[in-house]
Amino acid sequence: MQVSGNVLVCDSIDQVGIDSLKKAGMTVDYKPDITPSELLSSVKDYHVIIVRSRTQITREVIDATTNTRIIARVGVGLDNIDLKAAEARNIRVINASEAAMNAVAELTIGHMISLARSIPRSDMETKKGNWIKKNLTGIELKGKYLGIIGVGNIGRNVGRIARALRMNLIGYDIYPINKDFIKEVGLIVTDLNTLVESSDFITCHVPLTQETKHMFNAQLFSKMKPTAFIVNTSRGEVIDEKALYDSLISGNIAGAALDVFETEPPHNKMLIELPNIICTPHIGSQTREAQELASMVIAEKIIQIIRGVI
Ligand SMILES: NC(=O)c1ccc[n+]([C@@H]2O[C@H](COP(=O)([O-])OP(=O)(O)OC[C@H]3O[C@@H](n4cnc5c(N)ncnc54)[C@H](O)[C@@H]3O)[C@@H](O)[C@H]2O)c1
Repeated sequence: MQVSGNVLVCDSIDQVGIDSLKKAGMTVDYKPDITPSELLSSVKDYHVIIVRSRTQITREVIDATTNTRIIARVGVGLDNIDLKAAEARNIRVINASEAAMNAVAELTIGHMISLARSIPRSDMETKKGNWIKKNLTGIELKGKYLGIIGVGNIGRNVGRIARALRMNLIGYDIYPINKDFIKEVGLIVTDLNTLVESSDFITCHVPLTQETKHMFNAQLFSKMKPTAFIVNTSRGEVIDEKALYDSLISGNIAGAALDVFETEPPHNKMLIELPNIICTPHIGSQTREAQELASMVIAEKIIQIIRGVI
């Protein structure tokens, strides 16, 4: 069944989703560089608005809509959309959280191995002509305890890969963790403090909420083993960066890897230039496969909603 409607795509997305929307009968305007003022003046013409993380769908933008039925985020998280304003106008807000699961999990494991074996530093020094082999004795992941905070889609994927690397898994979540997963990987389910005290690696996969903002503060960092590493590929504000900096320079923890920051790009030069931190510029879901899948999933959801199926 063909559908109709005007779609505005505000950020760059994979072509596959645009093609599906057009094939289904929709008119698509692709404006990946649209400015906030252009968006404000043109939004009234569209039934569907598609964004990634760049475009901010503020209350002002939502108030300027007249026919909009759907706001779609090609990716995870809805932090750039004013959800209350959308709800008040009866606009459906959807995302494609399932599309990034594997990409973020693989990056997380990549960060863990990079921390354990100092891969970024080895690369940098070797290219500078410094043969610092003697200073680069690392550790192995096999047999180490990995604490997963937030055992949702990404947390479980990280767990599966880590188990294949023969790590022992500890998990903490505010909601009951999937029983089949617990059995599959032999997850030890515990409270947050016990997880932090017992883990050799800690990885955060929680959403940003009032409870998770600065969940990792000075008090929680002080409970980590001095040999332990922390990886954050969730949301920057989950970690208090000042407390992380203090823990890294005092040797209270061994190292950290961040894909996400309290402000992006990060202003906190003192933190990101420390030798025992590895940084990536929020590339968790930045794989060809994840982008294609997200674009496909979003297009399919839009078509189904307009057909009245979901
Ligand atoms: N780096 C990136 O590019 C990137 C890409 C995709 C997702 N993410 C982020 O990864 C995180 C996880 O995404 P997901 O798809 O696995 O989400 P999900 O909803 O599947 O899982 C999140 C889990 O966290 C749990 N949780 C919520 N509040 C908690 C709390 N206070 N304490 C403990 N557990 C809590 C939930 O119960 C759930 O099991 C999100 O923050 C998301 O924004 C980052």
